[in-house]
Amino acid sequence: MKTRPKYQSILEKIGNTPLVSLPFDVPPTLLAKLEYLNPGGSIKDRSALFMIEKAEEDGSLKQYGTIIEASSGNQGIALAMIGAIKGYKVIITVPDRTSIEKITTLKAYGAKVYICPDTDDLGDQNSYHSKARQLYEQTPGAFMPNQYFNIANPLAHYSKTGPEIWRQTSGSITHLVVGAGSCGTISGVGRFLKEQNPAIKIIGVDAETSVYSCKNPKAYDVEGLGIDVISDTLDREAIDEIIPISDDDAFRSTRILASQGYLVGISSGAVMHVALSYAKKLDKKDVMVVIFGDSGRAYLSKLFASTRPVTPSIRTEMTTTDEQPRASLQQSQEGVV
Ligand SMILES: Cc1ncc(COP(=O)(O)O)c(C=O)c1O
Repeated sequence: MKTRPKYQSILEKIGNTPLVSLPFDVPPTLLAKLEYLNPGGSIKDRSALFMIEKAEEDGSLKQYGTIIEASSGNQGIALAMIGAIKGYKVIITVPDRTSIEKITTLKAYGAKVYICPDTDDLGDQNSYHSKARQLYEQTPGAFMPNQYFNIANPLAHYSKTGPEIWRQTSGSITHLVVGAGSCGTISGVGRFLKEQNPAIKIIGVDAETSVYSCKNPKAYDVEGLGIDVISDTLDREAIDEIIPISDDDAFRSTRILASQGYLVGISSGAVMHVALSYAKKLDKKDVMVVIFGDSGRAYLSKLFASTRPVTPSIRTEMTTTDEQPRASLQQSQEGVV
């Protein structure tokens, strides 16, 4: 008899990611939600699938239609993967800070990619946001998920990611630290968790020169993070604090995490940098959840191909609870990033 597989499509494996313990020596229990284990490699699989399914339901995306989106990478990758599976054409505009791995991944999924200058001026006709809008207006049968304004984006996290975290911590979570870009994740998860327990602290991490965090916004190198569009996808009531981080701190933290066995993306490095310093103020009873949004494999050329050494002072910033095996891992890699 033919066995019927449990899953009929790769898309059924989006979500329900594991929550694992991190062994860093801070007072609270520290747990990481491994979003890079989604089939497209990032947390953005969730919002992309949710927005596409909603558009299919309400008729704004029809069979053989074209999906067009401005994305710093992961949202585009998720749309490209889902589009390839469901038979839609996909066009993605990206800023030129996007890593070569992400751009190549988009192309591998068959998406058409426009690389646009990463200008400081959001109204600039050449920006990736403007370019996506122009293409949308010119393309018959186009659907633009518009993650920065589409309320289905936070809703994806309100209906799935938030409940997963609540269930996986048996309701014991006290703090959530998460990267903020379109703010879909922080707003959706934050709202759900605060409805369960208003005392849970929701902490966002932003690029320090973003439109939200800086009076004179400037381009930055971190990817995934950075609040440059302020819209209804940013639910201020669901958020307690947004903490800015520099490119240097985010990059350095990401490199250290990799050297300790956690090859995560830049937004995860940024989140860990903030989480570890925040956690010093907390208690043993607290339970802090961080979200690892994607994998470091998307940034190998940007972060790890250089031979710039990690200085000893940087290495001591992150100490783990089981120093012995980690010390030898660190020694074997000394001086090499
Ligand atoms: C790796 C990663 N982390 C965090 C975020 C931020 O998520 P959101 O757009 O829901 O704020 C993104 C967004 O693209 C991302 O790609």
